[in-house]
Amino acid sequence: MTLYGIGLGPGQPDLVTVRGKRALESADVVYSPGRLSRSVATEHVPEERIGDLDFPMTRDEEKLRTAWKEAAAEIAPTARDGDAAFVTLGDPNVYSTFGHLRRTLAAFHPEVDLEVVPGVSAMSAFATALGVEITAGSSLALREADRGASPTGPDRMILFKVTDAPATHEGLVEAGYDVVYGRRLFMEQGETVVTDDPSEIDERDYYTLAYAEKPETRVEQATDAFLEAADESGVVTDGGENGSGAVVRQERSEAALCGDEVKHD
Ligand SMILES: C[S@@+](CC[C@H](N)C(=O)[O-])C[C@H]1O[C@@H](n2cnc3c(N)ncnc32)[C@H](O)[C@@H]1O
Repeated sequence: MTLYGIGLGPGQPDLVTVRGKRALESADVVYSPGRLSRSVATEHVPEERIGDLDFPMTRDEEKLRTAWKEAAAEIAPTARDGDAAFVTLGDPNVYSTFGHLRRTLAAFHPEVDLEVVPGVSAMSAFATALGVEITAGSSLALREADRGASPTGPDRMILFKVTDAPATHEGLVEAGYDVVYGRRLFMEQGETVVTDDPSEIDERDYYTLAYAEKPETRVEQATDAFLEAADESGVVTDGGENGSGAVVRQERSEAALCGDEVKHD
């Protein structure tokens, strides 16, 4: 029947989508490639329906191909006779192990039907966790920054796999970026850390990302006019022009919410 590739989101079980939860509940076997994805899946399905898959911690391509062939050979019969699920953290199509499985099944078990259930990716969850707004009109690049790498170029970047924050930080600051780090965002296991100080994050943890932005690149928004007109209390009024003097819009500025001073004309 079908193999569902299900994105579990960043780690907290209630960030699994409704569709993902339904697919998990209806699968005969839910295959998990790791401990963290397993712990999220077991919040939605009983342990006895979880199928653990073993992958070697290696960059040896031959060993990886062997492991994926074995995983596909185990999953294919379940997906042929019923419904199976393969879970990944985040989204299955963003820097994910699911791609290896999809390619291996296409090569060796083309009769298996696939359906992907998207998940909340760290690529989008970071914005809320770090208090960042990617405004209309701005561009954003996704890069990897493992083992101290400092990719530079675009005005705004999300960096995955930040395993050596101090080294990555040095190169980014030199290139003119402001950087914020986020470790284990929306995750239940381990401590969540959000900081602009790389020394707070120097202990290596694979589930760490960074957001880097050139400070001068903010794109003006139509509603910025409200902030410019805000009075001392951060409240915008119509100044009596509509006859009532009533507050026509009450909007605390983002700057005030972040603890920064609000500018007034
Ligand atoms: C192989 S990628 C998997 C991405 C995943 N498929 C997704 O869509 O979020 C792993 C990298 O994503 C980032 N990441 C994933 N989940 C995260 C989380 N909850 N908090 C912080 N970073 C996370 C980290 O940079 C980590 O090294």
